[in-house]
Amino acid sequence: MNPTPKVTLKLATSLDGRIATASGESRWITGEAARAQTHRLRAEHDAVLVGVETALADDPELTVRTPGFGGRQPARVVLDSRQRLSETCKLAVTARETPTFVVSIEEPQTRLTDAGVRVLQVKAAGDRPELEHALERLADAGVGSILVEGGGQVAASFLRCGLVQRIEWFRAPIMLGGEGRPAIGALALEALAQAPRFKRVAVEALGPDLWERYEKA
Ligand SMILES: NC(=O)c1ccc[n+]([C@@H]2O[C@H](COP(=O)([O-])OP(=O)(O)OC[C@H]3O[C@@H](n4cnc5c(N)ncnc54)[C@H](OP(=O)(O)O)[C@@H]3O)[C@@H](O)[C@H]2O)c1
Repeated sequence: MNPTPKVTLKLATSLDGRIATASGESRWITGEAARAQTHRLRAEHDAVLVGVETALADDPELTVRTPGFGGRQPARVVLDSRQRLSETCKLAVTARETPTFVVSIEEPQTRLTDAGVRVLQVKAAGDRPELEHALERLADAGVGSILVEGGGQVAASFLRCGLVQRIEWFRAPIMLGGEGRPAIGALALEALAQAPRFKRVAVEALGPDLWERYEKA
């Protein structure tokens, strides 16, 4: 059996921990230096993962776009229980150049597999993919490390399951308020003692932003 992939959670937030305005606008919260560092982090991981809401809202490429980068692009992974991802989105259209996985709880849809997307049908936990099984399947596909880039619901799921080993947090000096989208969705905590805990291992200024790095405590 392949070892479970190491999971790093990357967040780019306002000072008050929001990842988008209420309308979903999120480009760009952090500055150029923080975004360049995100691309370097992508290059250090075998795969970059997002939830389907982020894929639908932003139509991201999730590639390394560091000037001069000549290495292998990380695979892209979308958590998408019912395969809502469009076959015309950037991830699907480029799936033959850069491996692209959709993690679902249903039979693979041919409109996605015909585009070259690899649909992994995994066990369900409630009405969503079970993350432990998803990680096992990704490990079998050769993925040893994953950079989780959000959004808030997906970040919360990884934290709730205790699967986050590192956090890379880019914090911009702006406020988005309580109506903004939270970086971390509901954790269903009943007591402070259950809160996932991390220890800070580094802090660095990146232009106007802060880059905070944490490891599982
Ligand atoms: N500032 C930033 O760096 C940044 C980064 C990422 C996203 N964003 C913003 O965040 C917003 C989207 O965030 P979001 O929290 O609404 O959505 P999200 O976390 O991107 O996606 C959530 C969706 O993923 C699917 N999913 C499948 N398995 C899941 C699981 N185990 N746990 C949780 N979700 C699972 C669910 O849809 P199904 O039930 O249909 O599968 C769920 O509704 C967008 O506005 C985007 O622009 C900002």
